[in-house]
Formats: sequence, C-alpha cells, structure tokens
Amino acid sequence: SSPLSVFSAKIASSSSPKPASLPAEDISTNSNGPKQDLLFDEDPEDLFAEATEEVSLDSPERDLLLSDGPSPAITPITPPTSVITPCIGHIEEEEGGDLFDMNISVSDPEKVGDGMNAYMAYKVTTKTSMSVFKRTEFSVKRRFSDFLGLHSKLASKYLHVGYIVPPAPEKSIVGMTKVKVGKEDQSSNEFVEKRRSALERYLMRTVKHPVLLKDPDVLQFLESSDLPRAVSTQALSSAGLLRMVNKAADAVNKMTIKMNESDAWFEEKQQHFENLDVQLRKLHASVESLVCHRKELSVNTAQFAKSAAMLGNSEDHTALSRALSQLAEVEEKIDQLHQDQANADFYLFSELLGDYVRLITAVKGVFDHRMKTWQKWQDSQMLLQKKREAEAKLQFTNKPDKLQQAKDEIKELEGKVQQGERDFEQISKTIRKEVSRFEKDRVKDFKTIIIKYLESLVQTQQQLIKYWEAFLPEAKAIS
Ligand SMILES: *[C@@H]1O[C@H](CO)[C@@H](O)[C@H](O)[C@H]1NC(C)=O
Ligand SMILES: *[C@@H]1O[C@H](CO)[C@@H](O)[C@H](O)[C@H]1NC(C)=O
Repeated sequence: SSPLSVFSAKIASSSSPKPASLPAEDISTNSNGPKQDLLFDEDPEDLFAEATEEVSLDSPERDLLLSDGPSPAITPITPPTSVITPCIGHIEEEEGGDLFDMNISVSDPEKVGDGMNAYMAYKVTTKTSMSVFKRTEFSVKRRFSDFLGLHSKLASKYLHVGYIVPPAPEKSIVGMTKVKVGKEDQSSNEFVEKRRSALERYLMRTVKHPVLLKDPDVLQFLESSDLPRAVSTQALSSAGLLRMVNKAADAVNKMTIKMNESDAWFEEKQQHFENLDVQLRKLHASVESLVCHRKELSVNTAQFAKSAAMLGNSEDHTALSRALSQLAEVEEKIDQLHQDQANADFYLFSELLGDYVRLITAVKGVFDHRMKTWQKWQDSQMLLQKKREAEAKLQFTNKPDKLQQAKDEIKELEGKVQQGERDFEQISKTIRKEVSRFEKDRVKDFKTIIIKYLESLVQTQQQLIKYWEAFLPEAKAIS
C-alpha cells in the first residue's frame, strides 16, 4: 500500500476533533524553553500526571503518591545507572556495524489503577533486524515516567560531552489540557493519542542516534520486561525532574561567559540555529492556528449539513427537497475530510515543527556545554598563572616547604589545564560530528514529512472535487 494509505489509517485511528477554539498559543510557551515551569504549574488537572507536585519532599503521602499504584515493573533496589557519567573522549562511536533497521511503535494506551494512582501504560513494540538485539520483534509495557526516566539518564550521560540527546516528550501538551470542549473522554482520547504519537517519535529519534542506540539504558528500556524504576526518578516527580534539568540548562544560559570564539564554524552554526529557532517557532504558531481554523471549518460544515438537511425536510418541492438532502450528505462527508486534514496538519506538520523547536533547544544545549568546558579550561589556566606568579615570589624567600608545595600545585594545575584543553577539543569535535548528523537527519525528516503532508492535501482536495462533482447533476436536475 502507498505511504499515503498508511498515513490515512494512522490519522483515522486518532479520535475525531471537537469544536475547536484552541487559541493561538503564545509561541514562547510552546517549546521546551524556560517557561516550562509555568506549563507544569498550570496543568493541575493532568489526568496522567505521575505525581502531585505540591506534595512536599518530606511528606508521608509522598511515597504513596509517587508509588503510583502497583507497577508491574518494580525492582526497588537498583543503583541509579544515571550516575555513571563517562569521561569526555571515552565514548567511541562504532562505525559500520549493522545498518539501521528498526521500527518502534507505541500503541495500546491503557489506563492502569484508579484516582490519584492511575496512570497510562503503553505498549512499546520493536521490530528490527539489527544484531544488537537478541530477537527481531519484542514488546514491553512502559509508562510516561519511564520515558522521562530514560531521557534523564541519557541526558546526564551524553549532553555534557556534546551529544544531541532528543528531548523527552512534553509532560503537558499545550492546548490539550487547557481547552475543555465537549465530552471529557473525547478530550482525553485526543490527549492520549497526541502523547502516544509523541512518545513514538521520541523513541525513534533516540534510537536513530548511533551512540544512544547502543546505550544499555536504551536497550533495557526496549527489551527488558522488568525495567527497574530508577531511584533518581522515583525520588522526584517527573515534573520536578524535568524542572531540574531545565534549571540546569538555564544556569548555563545565564552564565555570561565571554568566549572569544576563534572557530568560525561554531560561530556560524550557532547563528544558524538561532535563526532556525525563531523561524520554526513562527511557522509552528501559524500551523497551529491553521489546525484550529480547519477544526472550526469542520464544525461549521457539520452545522451547515444539519441545517441543509432540516431545510430539505421542510421543503415541499420534491426535487428541491431531495437536492437539499443530498447537499446535506455531501457536507457531512466534507466535514469528515476537514477533520482528517486538520489531523494531518497537526500530526504531520505541526508536530514536526514542534519537535524541531525542542530539538534545536537540545542543540543549543550542547553549544552551551562546549562553552562551559572552555570556561573550565580557562579557569584552570588562570589559576595556574597565579600559582606561577606566587612561585616566582617564593623564589626570593627562604621557604623551601612552601616553594615545594607551590611546585606540586603547579604540576597538578598543568595537568588540569592539559585535560581542560583536551576536553574542549573533544567536545568541539563531537559537536561538529553531531551537528552534521543532525542536519542530515533534519533535511531527510522534513522531506519525508512534507511529502506525506502534500499527499494528504492533494488527496483531500481530490476527494472534495469528487464529492462536488457527484452532487452537481442532482442540483441541475431540480425542475
Ligand atoms: C520498518 O519499516 C519500513 C517501512 O515501513 C520497512 O521497509 C522496514 O522493512 C521495516 N523494518 C523492520 C525491521 O521491520
Ligand atoms: C581571546 O582573548 C584573549 C585576551 O583578549 C587572548 O589572549 C586570546 O588569544 C583570545 N583567544 C582566541 C582564541 O582568540
């Protein structure tokens, strides 16, 4: 079957949209940016929240809440794997292993437990022919906090050495929880579908990274039937965890490091990503508003169909009455088309842009880490200089002990300076490689999605014409 039909099946399986009045969002709240705290705080009714944030760290209810009901996968005493941070330069990419061939689907969202302890579990199915896996097809059950836990482990291992780690899916999906329109369950169906789709994209982006794919935490996440709930994730609510990650990122951003960049490539790339970021956010906001309008169009079309049908019922003239009823039927079908197109707008284009806004935040994150690494190197260099000056002064005094001590310290600092320089060179090298991989993937991603999106538009328009053309003779036959 054509890619188009695969895609259609996919959007058809998502829930139908409701009367839309999704406001155009302030774009600054749409990303993983610093405003995320705000998002979490505004989202007290997130049905799928993993824990209530207001619970104080020492409160006795905390454990209860965080336990989140019985989890099928609890292995309580497991050391946090996330503390193992490899040294810079020790992660080697193995080139030329298997060709990348794997598909991951996230499916069958299922509510587990009740009330405060309720959570959604998703089935994560991997199909692959790669030799890093023992089997070619396997499934596990995972919940949202497991995904967040995976991301935080990967971020703590790889970000500071310059790897672009795909950001975790947003905890609250902007525009979803805020807009309470129509039936409750419909709204949460849509929420679940958006999250499911975001989780799937997140996993695919993660495993497409050659280093992340071989990470033991990733393999365990995909394969292991009993995933240990990491101590670090358990000790904090998922939101708190994300918030901490964000705060750390902020701290880096706010450091006013004056780095006189000697590397034109980095200067250029940084500017490039700044520009991309701004333009992607703008386009994302436009597409989101297009989605809203398309949904509104669908709602109005449904209303139109209803009114035409009622007018047809009250019409005495038989032919006119029949034509009006047929018009109503046509409009009903067109309503469905608009709904499908709104879904395509969203799941294809809008989500692609949203993902990339967040991915670019991750790219900017590794640039920040490079700056931090540079700063560390410079700091030890400055310290070394001071020590040398002190040593020079000691030459003229009669304090052999102090002199020896200074010499020892200088030796140690020289080592640190050398290490600092190596670290900086290594992270710069890694980032160059990462950015070039990222850019290649980005173009491929955009190409694939834009083609799918255009196909959906063409199909919608062709179907529209078919409907109208079929109706036209009926209208002409009125006599
Ligand atoms: C993954 O999906 C693609 C496209 O549908 C297909 O060509 C490929 O064979 C699949 N790979 C595996 C391992 O299932
Ligand atoms: C950065 O500036 C300092 C002092 O202005 C200078 O000594 C150093 O060589 C410069 N570094 C580069 C890479 O341009």
